[in-house]
Amino acid sequence: MTIPFEKHRIPTSDIGVSGSLTTSSASLLSVRDLSVEYRGERTTKAVKNVNFELRKGEILGIAGESGCGKSTLAYAITNMLKHPAYITSGEVLYAQGDSGNTVDILRLEHEQLRNFRWTEISMVFQSAMNALNPVTSLKKQFSDIFLAHKPGMTKAERLEKSIRLLEMVGLNKNIINQFPHELSGGMRQRVVIAMALCYMPNIVIMDEPTTALDVVIQRDILDEIIRLQKELNFSIIFITHDISLLLEISDRLLIMYAGEIAEQARTEAIVSRALHPYTNGIMLSIPDLYGQRRELRGIPGMPPDLSLDIPGCPFRPRCSEAFEPCSTWPPPKIFVANEPDHFVRCHKYGSSDFMGGA
Ligand SMILES: Nc1ncnc2c1ncn2[C@@H]1O[C@H](COP(=O)(O)OP(=O)(O)OP(=O)(O)O)[C@@H](O)[C@H]1O
Ligand code: SF4
Ligand SMILES: [Mg+2]
Repeated sequence: MTIPFEKHRIPTSDIGVSGSLTTSSASLLSVRDLSVEYRGERTTKAVKNVNFELRKGEILGIAGESGCGKSTLAYAITNMLKHPAYITSGEVLYAQGDSGNTVDILRLEHEQLRNFRWTEISMVFQSAMNALNPVTSLKKQFSDIFLAHKPGMTKAERLEKSIRLLEMVGLNKNIINQFPHELSGGMRQRVVIAMALCYMPNIVIMDEPTTALDVVIQRDILDEIIRLQKELNFSIIFITHDISLLLEISDRLLIMYAGEIAEQARTEAIVSRALHPYTNGIMLSIPDLYGQRRELRGIPGMPPDLSLDIPGCPFRPRCSEAFEPCSTWPPPKIFVANEPDHFVRCHKYGSSDFMGGA
């Protein structure tokens, strides 16, 4: 089958193709072909064939507009989705310890999962600071987490560890007897981060951990997260719609659009040479702090309704560079030569038939 758009291809001597992502030896988590839908009167395809790797000690940013599937992806990775959400394909392989063994998180039984969460992967949920139990002291809430996984710990050990965790996230140990409603938003968010670190997991997924906070507090908490990550060397999946924040803190970036990864690259590659028109759109919508002054532009239009079938490229109605195949053919995944971490899903860079892409 030949797609008639060769004339539109931009010269991309450095764009190459490889068949699929391979698992790097340092990979801690490997998400493969993950798809999720919400079933109901209308089925919403919230995550579609997502593939990515998370490496030891890295910060992986996931960015995209509201409703593009970021939180659904996070819940799916930790196998926490409930009806009406269903995982329709994929696996989430986690490399356990130094043994080289991998487990598919999606196949863990209830009890295995219970042990797995917190100890291997923990999550700071979107709006988590508001989900702390308002009528239970921090001491009791920390204690409950320890009791759930390490019932052998003594009361004194639980208290000592809780205090150590509070201090680790920059809080005073005296707040241990306080209730969440007595704390500021920033303090509550630090408590939630401390809770996620109770068992020193290898991976912490943070879903919009600072969005509800004012900019100054947001900055303090980000600094704290980065300091802890460097000190303890855990990996972070950091989810936010605020790409400027991710440009600063993440090693690699996934740009999500309509349930798919539109582009994946090392952060510096996104800064110097983003390829997907959507990525370029979001880069032009934020101020360039270090470069020349330029006019800020938003992306016109709205993301598509994920309960409708979307032929071709889901970004097409908003894309100023759309051409013939975009409305008919789903864009292929094109890997950038000499940049093994960089791929883009866009017809501008070739077609699967033409270049043999995945
Ligand atoms: N419980 C649910 N039932 C039906 N559809 C849902 C449900 N939860 C989410 N969705 C839909 O799934 C899609 C992805 O939602 P999701 O919350 O994962 O997006 P998000 O990128 O995290 O958005 P935000 O930035 O607003 O947090 C959206 O279209 C949303 O409406
Ligand atoms: S595939 Fe076409 S519509 Fe989609 S981003 Fe690329 S050029 Fe734009
Ligand atoms: Mg979300």
